[in-house]
Amino acid sequence: GLTRHYKFNVVMRNVTRLCSTKPIVTVNGQFPGPTLYAREDDTVLVKVVNHIGHDVTIHWHGVRQLRTGWADGPAYVTQCPIQPGRSYVYNFTLTGQRGTLLWHAHITWMRSTVHGALVILPKLGVPYPFTQPHQEHVIVLAEWWKSDPEAVIREAMKAGRPPNVSDAHVINGHAGALSTCSSSSLDGFTLAVEKGKKYLLRVINAALNEDLFFKVAGHRMTVVEVDAAYTKPFSIDTILLAPGQTTNVLLNADKTAGGRYLLTASPFADSPLVAVDNRTATATLHYADIVSSSAAPAAASALTTTNPPPMNATHVAAAFSDALRSLNSQAYPARVPATVDRSLLFTVGLGANPCANCINGSRVVAGVNNVTFVMPTTALLQAHYYNLSGVFTDDFPGRPPVAFNYTGSGPRNVATEQGTRLYRLPYNATVGLVLQDTGIIGPESHPLHLHGYNFFVIGKGSGNYDPKTSPAGFNLVDPVERNTVSVPSGGWTAIRFRADNPGVWFMHCHFEVHMTWGLKMAFIVDDGEGPEQSILPPPKDLPAC
Ligand code: C2O
Repeated sequence: GLTRHYKFNVVMRNVTRLCSTKPIVTVNGQFPGPTLYAREDDTVLVKVVNHIGHDVTIHWHGVRQLRTGWADGPAYVTQCPIQPGRSYVYNFTLTGQRGTLLWHAHITWMRSTVHGALVILPKLGVPYPFTQPHQEHVIVLAEWWKSDPEAVIREAMKAGRPPNVSDAHVINGHAGALSTCSSSSLDGFTLAVEKGKKYLLRVINAALNEDLFFKVAGHRMTVVEVDAAYTKPFSIDTILLAPGQTTNVLLNADKTAGGRYLLTASPFADSPLVAVDNRTATATLHYADIVSSSAAPAAASALTTTNPPPMNATHVAAAFSDALRSLNSQAYPARVPATVDRSLLFTVGLGANPCANCINGSRVVAGVNNVTFVMPTTALLQAHYYNLSGVFTDDFPGRPPVAFNYTGSGPRNVATEQGTRLYRLPYNATVGLVLQDTGIIGPESHPLHLHGYNFFVIGKGSGNYDPKTSPAGFNLVDPVERNTVSVPSGGWTAIRFRADNPGVWFMHCHFEVHMTWGLKMAFIVDDGEGPEQSILPPPKDLPAC
């Protein structure tokens, strides 16, 4: 592959949305940030220069980072932050992945404005395993906050309560019809298409705290890839993306020339605990009439609209996620581990711990197996690599320490213990991990993201996972492969992966508020004994804490 050089200047920029202007943190002054293009097997060098008054790190969400954990990006996990006035070169190779991923800041709530697309094209001369599109477009879904999101979470943490929701959802940076100071309801992103052509849409959910449905009025979409892994193509009218997830769809522009069709991004929102922003962001698909460009432009044709799915439309969500399968072709086989060396069961959920200064005397916390993860002040990967003691322990429980029950009628294990506890895996171990929503306070879905790996989603169910009966329905042939999966509200998800990437790898809920509350942990994957089975040495410019 080639070596590609990018420069990310992290700078403040005044941006106007929803009728008001505020300074936000950006990369190169753009919101959303620049799209990074590369091909499979390329080496990417991104020099990140911090020109703002806060620490920064950037995470390449979904990039496997084989042996290059130093370039992964989560603050205090794989690196110390890049301090104001400093820079760091993220250096990684794109191995065995092709499709769409995203990059985002991985410190505090900065990713609300610091995010963008990462497009991995196939190797030169290698076609897509689906119809070659006429054009490709990146569609980034996110949120917009009128206030400073950092202040929102600081306030919430002090009170011990959930934070306020964002003020709008946005599609490629624009809220569309929500933008009330605009005279036109079409204000927002416009995707121009030509009748009779096929388009590849690379859809990304970069929102902090919201699962989003995505729809195109009058059109179905053919899903061909999620999280930079090809899928068996299937046709559907609504896709669902949790924060951190990506989906590539083919759109056949077979409707009326000159026509306009609404694109919508609307929340799924199955959370009983946190107020949800139920407003729908819109954009426009426009069949631009390029043939008669010499004539006077025709009057704007009527807009074909669509109703977004209602809130909590679990059947719409399931219709999409149940249809996902790995492509599993000869060229792209699904390498699902047939057996499991480590069988783990992690409960994920929200709890409450006593708090003297908080409203009602308690604070909302979150945990994995009743451990609320405490961020260290030294990066875990450095502590692991240099054998520093006192930074973490490797005694994270592989099973729930307290009996769980999602219904809430069982043991009320609402309390969590704090700790910086990691789970250690031998190199190349096959891992079977069941993620169970405990609904300690109430059931809630959690998009769990594992760094440094793709995993196979071999099963899911509602209620309590039962080791005697649940595995009967596992798909070990062509399960979807991804890096972020939703644990259903009041249910469980089973995943499998092979621990073939040594390092320290964060796993957390990709709802930023749940991560802040402590719904996170990390795996240590030990070096193997063979060549190319150990972490590469750290780069010289790795930031110090
Ligand atoms: Cu996209 Cu640890 O995150």
